[in-house]
Amino acid sequence: MNIHTYEKAWLIASMVLIVGFIATITYGAVGPGIAMIDDDGGSISPDNINDHERFGEPGVTHVGGNEYEVAVVAQAWSYTPSQIEVPANSEVTFYITSRDVTHSFTVVGTNMNTMVIPGQVSQMTVEFDEPGEYGILCNEYCGEYHHTMEGKLNVVPEDEFDLTELSVEAPDEAQAGNETTISATVSDGMQTDLETTATLEIGEQTLERDVMISGEGSETVEFAVDTAALGTGEHDWTVTVDDHQESGTLEVVNATEGGDDSA
Ligand code: CUA
Repeated sequence: MNIHTYEKAWLIASMVLIVGFIATITYGAVGPGIAMIDDDGGSISPDNINDHERFGEPGVTHVGGNEYEVAVVAQAWSYTPSQIEVPANSEVTFYITSRDVTHSFTVVGTNMNTMVIPGQVSQMTVEFDEPGEYGILCNEYCGEYHHTMEGKLNVVPEDEFDLTELSVEAPDEAQAGNETTISATVSDGMQTDLETTATLEIGEQTLERDVMISGEGSETVEFAVDTAALGTGEHDWTVTVDDHQESGTLEVVNATEGGDDSA
């Protein structure tokens, strides 16, 4: 059979095009790691979100190593939490669900984008190599203030990230001469051990307590404050644990004046 030279050329050209098209589609689907959200996340009753193990307290959890989980609840017209912080060089799995209507969770400038459907949990795993700041927005029309539904995702350098929280309990007032106690609770959400120091500064006094938390947990340390050394009047105090700080004011009064004398 004799095929005309031009005919042959066109046949070859169309074969090359077909192979090329298939190659680009395959690359697009597999190469850049684009994955569709499937039903791996499972389902949830929107009425039980508050009691749910994962969504009752949404936020960032350390799973171990460089792996984290982030639970997000979407509702008209906000995300809980709306500010998310994760470290660079991490692998983060997001679990997102909706309390009311269909929203989306779209991280601007990335390929992270999912519909958020009440009753369903959208699950996606993302690797963050570099620090960066991203906006989160909803691109499914969800009502009057749809355009205001937004959040923030901060990928911070690894050494700036922790899941430490500090809360301090201190009296507002103490009687001169009596010892009073300021207690600081440090909680650590990381699975790794935390070894640090809590420092209280009040007046001329600086008190330090060691804090050691193995794995995820919390520890409360107490500072005994010498009110006699402080003298009467108002004294500002500050409790510092690493980058976390809480402050307040303690008023030292004479036993006879002010305060709750009946105590
Ligand atoms: Cu939520 Cu639009």
